[in-house]
Amino acid sequence: MTMINTAILGATGYTGAELIRLLDQHPVFHIAHLGAHSQAGRLLHEVLPGINDPLASMRLQAADAPLADDIQLVFTALPHTAAATAVAAALAAGKKVIDLSADFRHQSADTYATAYGVTHPHPQLLPQAVYGLCEWHHQAIAHSNLVANPGCYPTSVLLPLIPLLQAGLLDSEQTVIVDAKSGTSGAGRSAKTELLYCEANESIRAYGLPRHRHVWEMEEWAQGIGGQTTHIRFVPHILPMSRGMLSTLHLNGQRTHEWLDLLTQRYASSPFVRVLPTGQLPSTKGVQGSNRCDIGVACLGRNHRGEEEAVIVSCIDNLMKGASGQAVQNANIMFGLEETLALPLHAQWP
Ligand SMILES: NC(=O)c1ccc[n+]([C@@H]2O[C@H](COP(=O)([O-])OP(=O)(O)OC[C@H]3O[C@@H](n4cnc5c(N)ncnc54)[C@H](OP(=O)(O)O)[C@@H]3O)[C@@H](O)[C@H]2O)c1
Repeated sequence: MTMINTAILGATGYTGAELIRLLDQHPVFHIAHLGAHSQAGRLLHEVLPGINDPLASMRLQAADAPLADDIQLVFTALPHTAAATAVAAALAAGKKVIDLSADFRHQSADTYATAYGVTHPHPQLLPQAVYGLCEWHHQAIAHSNLVANPGCYPTSVLLPLIPLLQAGLLDSEQTVIVDAKSGTSGAGRSAKTELLYCEANESIRAYGLPRHRHVWEMEEWAQGIGGQTTHIRFVPHILPMSRGMLSTLHLNGQRTHEWLDLLTQRYASSPFVRVLPTGQLPSTKGVQGSNRCDIGVACLGRNHRGEEEAVIVSCIDNLMKGASGQAVQNANIMFGLEETLALPLHAQWP
């Protein structure tokens, strides 16, 4: 089989490291270039001790080093704005790009500026970006040169929400409440005081209030794919675990007893979305190391106002379906390959 040479820019970060682990097992994609920033010039094993040879002996290139002509695919796993610059250069050099940052997830530069507090460096590229929620944009991804890999929290929220919105089963007046938890790798590898062991261990705290930047992304694509204006109140929490993400959605709507069947049917042919049977709810442990999103539904009955209520719990590994796993899934689709190539279905257990 002809191999496809790929570059990972941001190879020394958490999502970059996960991309290396996944792509090194891939039968078609070959890692030909690793880019870094402060660690450029070092050998990979000096920065990522978990990687084995021959990759471990590869030298990290500067983030703006030119890419060889035979590289066809570039993964940008960089902080926002730095990613946009790298994406623009890669597209100009004729490469296909999967961007893991937020830089191309919004359709408008104004929304991006509001959510991220910075002016978009390359707004002219926004119209060509496809929002890479694989289960909903498969066709567009297959024909795209630029895929914006969705955010981790939005992935966990949109996968259960969109089918219910499309079916018109949610009360349109409500504010959807999302109470979410993440492991600390969600914040990346750079040093932050609040993520020091002594401060994060044995502690849980909310952050990102009053409006975390992922809310704009959730609301934009709830409307863009689900077809309904949706208001979301989102409170994320950081937990003392390395990876994993659990989002609990509190919802009002109609015929809640049908929701489980609806979600089960919608995702029956989606290899990476598993809707659990009645009475079961997912856990982060159940998806750790897997590219799956696990979803559970609990019907709560009618509240004191007579409205039907339900809770949906959605779990992903933030570095897999929430980032690098979904990025590889997108790359597989983009190149017409089997969607599941090199992507683990099973979680690590225990
Ligand atoms: N972590 C998650 O769970 C997650 C989930 C979804 C999406 N994302 C997004 O994915 C991207 C990468 O996240 P991450 O968690 O992997 O971050 P990270 O661990 O902090 O890694 C950042 C990477 O970018 C490089 N870098 C830092 N500043 C740079 C600059 N100014 N110019 C060029 N390169 C620079 C770093 O290189 P050096 O190490 O050499 O300095 C490192 O390789 C971010 O946009 C993030 O929002 C992350």
